[in-house]
Amino acid sequence: MPRRLATTRPESRTKGRQLDLGGQGRIAPSSSVASACLTQPWTVTCSNGCVHGAGSALDFSRSFLPEALAGLSTVRALDEDDRRRMNQIRAASYLHVFDVLETAIGEAARAHASRDVDARDTLVPLLRLDSFDHNELFRGFERAFEESFPVAPRLVPRPRDLDEIFTDAVPLSLLVVALHLKLVTQQHYLACVRGDESLEPSFVRVLKEHWTVECGRTRGESSALAIQHALGAALPGRVPAALRDYRRIVFTIDDVLRRQASLDVETLEAAREGALSSADRDAVVEAQFSAFRKTFLTFGIVNAAFVYAMRSLGPSAPATLAGVVSALSSR
Ligand SMILES: [Fe+2]
Repeated sequence: MPRRLATTRPESRTKGRQLDLGGQGRIAPSSSVASACLTQPWTVTCSNGCVHGAGSALDFSRSFLPEALAGLSTVRALDEDDRRRMNQIRAASYLHVFDVLETAIGEAARAHASRDVDARDTLVPLLRLDSFDHNELFRGFERAFEESFPVAPRLVPRPRDLDEIFTDAVPLSLLVVALHLKLVTQQHYLACVRGDESLEPSFVRVLKEHWTVECGRTRGESSALAIQHALGAALPGRVPAALRDYRRIVFTIDDVLRRQASLDVETLEAAREGALSSADRDAVVEAQFSAFRKTFLTFGIVNAAFVYAMRSLGPSAPATLAGVVSALSSR
């Protein structure tokens, strides 16, 4: 019999609450919170008046992430119910990881720009208001998920090693990482999510909105296109250091993903109210880490638009990317 683990019931956290987003907005739960149902409509209203979110209840009878991102179909250690729970937990941590990465790179770009006028010129595409200004969308979903899921997801705190590498890296490498993140956002929605009607519809709308804000056109060219133009204009002498630091950043993100994969399994054990055996736990952590790495790193490195943009840095750049993929697989 599995060891029983303590859980936190959602009712005690939800009744009558308006969720504050640190002055940037609020989550509006449905008027039927008193019914203590496990799902509830949610939206996020930002300080500028924009309304983000699903607008309907989260359906926990469905998977949230597509199999191409979740990587759970081959995990024999979990039964069908646990695979669905794990999928939902991964959906919450998927958005959290994006939030962590984008917040860290945005703050690092502003810090570089404040110290060095040359860095500021390089990082112009990341200093635009619409570059990574949608973190409230992630945090809104995260809170709505916590309101409805049986336990609060364990999520990595802001990683110090990530902040340190972004601070130490040359500015041009931050542009490369930012483009990587924007293109995987696009790839996740267009290639893996769009058209899959089996997925939880509210979460699909969040991913569609994320893709729209990352790669859609708001004022003039999109921030992704602006980054591609900036990479094309980079001075050749700065490229080797940028590629070196891109590789270092990818490895640091890989470490963060491994930590989050382990936390996701802890969340699963709490949600199912029972610990996995040591062997099953190791197998699930490894499978989830592998899926995380593919979702956030490998998909981006081999993305055709990313490889095309990297070619603009010089003929050796694609070989460098291949070397990063190879090094990841041997870590
Ligand atoms: Fe984003």
